[in-house]
Amino acid sequence: MRPAIFWASDYNFKKVLIKMTHSTSTSVACANIAFIKYWGNRDNALRLPVNGSISMNLDGLFARTTVAFNSSKSDSLLINDYAVTGKGLDRVSSILDLVRGMANIQEKAEVKSENNFPAGAGIASSAAAFGALALAASAAAGLNLSEAELSRLARRGSGSAARSIPAGFVEWQMGKDEEDSYAFSIAQADHWALMDCIAVVSSAHKKTGSTEGHAIASTSPLQNARVEDTLRRLEICRRAILDKDFESFANIIELDSDMMHAVMMTSNPPLMYWQNATVGIFHAVREWRGRGLPVAYTVDAGANVHVICPSDYAKEVEEKLRELPGVINVLVAGAGGGARVIG
Ligand code: PMV
Repeated sequence: MRPAIFWASDYNFKKVLIKMTHSTSTSVACANIAFIKYWGNRDNALRLPVNGSISMNLDGLFARTTVAFNSSKSDSLLINDYAVTGKGLDRVSSILDLVRGMANIQEKAEVKSENNFPAGAGIASSAAAFGALALAASAAAGLNLSEAELSRLARRGSGSAARSIPAGFVEWQMGKDEEDSYAFSIAQADHWALMDCIAVVSSAHKKTGSTEGHAIASTSPLQNARVEDTLRRLEICRRAILDKDFESFANIIELDSDMMHAVMMTSNPPLMYWQNATVGIFHAVREWRGRGLPVAYTVDAGANVHVICPSDYAKEVEEKLRELPGVINVLVAGAGGGARVIG
């Protein structure tokens, strides 16, 4: 909706022009799993990454966010019905500030967000949340942003959220500058019927969030080697997705995940996200693949393992994962669409 413009009187009874939106919009955006990981920024404030990344949106695992610009005195935030203040609210307000700047409005906003996947399930909820926020806030402010503009805006809240805007299989190019660092689809969701069987081994909130992790990535002596090799891994992963070549895909995503965790473990201070059950799943997945089952693992900044397989094998993989020690639950998701306005 376009912002309405009202003439109103100020205290001196002079006519002043007040731009008011009083608009509300609701959007949904999927979580995503990175196949080639983003780890480390060249600009932490702008969340400009040191390397490009590739991911798949996760169908059915999404955040639904409503933004209502109104006449309240400050922004407010409810996540899954809990009021959030402090740093969490500041992070949301900084996205709202960018939107207010673009739309040339001043109103504060009420933001309500819900995840449809269990809280603490170890799925990066920030990508879905900031993807949905970028779209809902800009729509409520009357802006009609392009996919690239939305992806850039979502990036400012959480880097990986840039990838939750476009549909399906998505690449986020590191870009030359701020303008140029956004994500786009490399294949639609129905291109390849891959499934992510997420083995949940911990529902505890991680002690070190990814924002702090990105900030210390450069302290690892392995980070330069990881970054310098990224174009090669991106190329192999992109090609494997386009050609639906599972073997090449499996090898490159496991290598990429292991390289990122090697950087995390050798940072100062060191970050160890894995637990015993995490490593147990790696061994099981490698053994199953050795015996001919098309499966591969990848892990984001947490202990839970994303086990990827073609959809025909998802039931078998899910059942096998449930039998492994330490697996509390398994969530299954296919490739999902892009962020969209629903109201
Ligand atoms: O978007 P952030 O700041 O939560 O960082 C995400 C980092 C990883 O999930 C570990 C990798 C990725 O590319 O999603």
